[in-house]
Amino acid sequence: MADPPLHGPPFAGYQAEIFLGGMAGTKPEHPVSVADLERVAEETLDDPKAAAYVFGGAGREDTMRGNADAFRRWRIVPRMLRDVSERDLSVTVLGTEMPAPLLLAPIGVQSIVHPDGELAVARAAAAVGLPMILSTVSSFALEEVAGAAGGPMWFQLYLPRSRELASSLVNRAERAGYEAIVLTVDTFLQGWKPRDLQSAWMPQLAGIGLANYTSDPVFQSMLEKPAEEDPQGAVGQFIAQFANPQLSWDEVEFLRAETELPILLKGILHPDDARLAGESGVDGVVVSNHGGRQLDGEIAALDALPAIADAVGGELAVLLDSGVRSGADAAKALALGADAVAIGRPYLWGLALDGEAGALAVLRAILAELDLTIGLSGHSRPGELTPELLAREGDSPG
Ligand code: FNR
Repeated sequence: MADPPLHGPPFAGYQAEIFLGGMAGTKPEHPVSVADLERVAEETLDDPKAAAYVFGGAGREDTMRGNADAFRRWRIVPRMLRDVSERDLSVTVLGTEMPAPLLLAPIGVQSIVHPDGELAVARAAAAVGLPMILSTVSSFALEEVAGAAGGPMWFQLYLPRSRELASSLVNRAERAGYEAIVLTVDTFLQGWKPRDLQSAWMPQLAGIGLANYTSDPVFQSMLEKPAEEDPQGAVGQFIAQFANPQLSWDEVEFLRAETELPILLKGILHPDDARLAGESGVDGVVVSNHGGRQLDGEIAALDALPAIADAVGGELAVLLDSGVRSGADAAKALALGADAVAIGRPYLWGLALDGEAGALAVLRAILAELDLTIGLSGHSRPGELTPELLAREGDSPG
């Protein structure tokens, strides 16, 4: 059993902690505003290739920006005089208990922004009790990350071409205690990302983010020489395994037969795909456009959410990521039908600034703001948030 989180509910207590600190002469070490955090993180990353990878998106980056704009077009219509003194943000999603409906979205190659990478983020997530979804292309092996902090973990899978390798990765995740498999279905080809193309750099081709592959016995058996002796050989085999444009519902069926863990499909934007996901026997979907990193011009994840929640809500777990920058954003997604929301880039900016402490500060700020948003809108539990909470910008509530 993992230790209880250090910074548990009520999450709004973080606000009092900051103001009390101020009375004792201390101010927050890290930017509290996400806009400041993004700016300072970009200034801190002195490797322009890494900055391009983290901050860039596909094409003209319309979808990357559009994700955030979509949140601004919804406004909260609060209710008053409802005694919100006893708030409880906890939820259980596909068997995983979490103290608030928030998870950490899978982000690969985190060591490009901080040497402690995923290990630091796993510790920050465990300190607040939020599940972390570990990427297949993480900088540390999945067993090491699971052991780093003992918090709840889910595993994100990029399905390799070899089914034997896929089975091995999934079985390792099961043995290491991961509680769900998140199959990313929107990265069967690499999106056109001008910033990365301009720097002509992909971390994986430099051998970064291959830890789950090089530690895998099936992957090792595919190499002519051990990865330590021939790193380029390992990169070549990774490339052969990674691009998977033939990915289809057959592979979902294969994965379903492979594991008893809950499976979520990440990257669903069309309600018909959400229905097909239900028919394929998976347990949930993550409404996501990969943070605008894959297909520029795509619909904002938040705009795709209501139709998907209508189509499969209640039957499948519905999660959302892409553009969540604050507790208020998370509350809007919950109101539009998400059972939980995944935070992406903001925790990576925290990691870039100050490792585990930086990532933790970001998580605590988003948790505190979500707690206050739910309370200030007249609610006490995430499940009480419905589309009634929101009006389109400029519209008056009905
Ligand atoms: C990602 N994302 C991602 N998704 C995934 O399934 N596997 C992965 O390895 C990665 N790697 C990755 C690296 C970087 C640098 C970023 C920014 C994103 C996508 C991620 O899970 C999530 O969908 C987005 O980050 C959500 O968008 P925002 O909110 O971060 O803009």
